[in-house]
Amino acid sequence: MIKHGIITGSSRGIGLATAQLLLQDDNTAVIGTSTSGKSDIKAQHFKCLPLDLAEGNSIHNFVKHIGDRKIDFLINNAAILLEDGHRSEINMQQLRKTFEVNLFGTIALTEALLPKFNTNAHIINITSNWGAFSDPHFDEYQPHYKLSKAALNMYTRLLAKRLEEKNITVSSLDPGWVQSDMGGDNAHRQPKTAATEILQLLGAKVETGQFWHKGNKRKW
Ligand SMILES: NC(=O)c1ccc[n+]([C@@H]2O[C@H](COP(=O)([O-])OP(=O)(O)OC[C@H]3O[C@@H](n4cnc5c(N)ncnc54)[C@H](OP(=O)(O)O)[C@@H]3O)[C@@H](O)[C@H]2O)c1
Repeated sequence: MIKHGIITGSSRGIGLATAQLLLQDDNTAVIGTSTSGKSDIKAQHFKCLPLDLAEGNSIHNFVKHIGDRKIDFLINNAAILLEDGHRSEINMQQLRKTFEVNLFGTIALTEALLPKFNTNAHIINITSNWGAFSDPHFDEYQPHYKLSKAALNMYTRLLAKRLEEKNITVSSLDPGWVQSDMGGDNAHRQPKTAATEILQLLGAKVETGQFWHKGNKRKW
């Protein structure tokens, strides 16, 4: 039977690599997203829809497009990092914009999709070491992004509890430092490596409400 899933932000970076890897399996159908609705992926079981997580109407239209289709997985991958590396002060405009996409939009989308999930579905929130309280190299930089990912990690915990009885698994995944528009050229991991780990988590029967990195549970 074909599995149906959604990955947000499939136009570039980790999201693109994950969609490409998922589509190597003929039994997986993927709906991807980009802010324009355009995609370079040409595959029989792939469709790209426009989605801007900062816009309520865009989320509403996306969910309407999904219709009555049942969903087996949702990978909340799309996110923004607006700040440059060496600023530590809070800029309220940037904080709000970052939360609109990385947290509020991601939560609004997930909540709107909840009635469509099959039993045994898996929701994976791509967060970051930069959203972890246990980061041994913690510093004061990228505050807006770090706040948004820490809050998304708490959403993983809360939603996992709520969906436990429905047998829906909710996970956070830290992909490490990955070469992409967000991660830059100096990152030591390739998008395909992170994508492989996302697929492994997706295919595994794991404890719900946990934070994963390189195939292992990590500290929050
Ligand atoms: N790269 C790293 O080192 C790293 C490390 C830790 C965690 N992560 C996390 O991994 C995930 C993927 O990161 P990446 O490096 O692949 O990022 P990326 O290359 O910058 O790609 C971001 C994706 O998000 C989409 N997006 C941007 N703004 C959006 C909006 N307002 N609404 C909906 N979609 C939007 C983009 O679509 P458009 O092309 O249409 O703009 C694009 O597909 C993110 O959650 C990120 O926080 C990355």
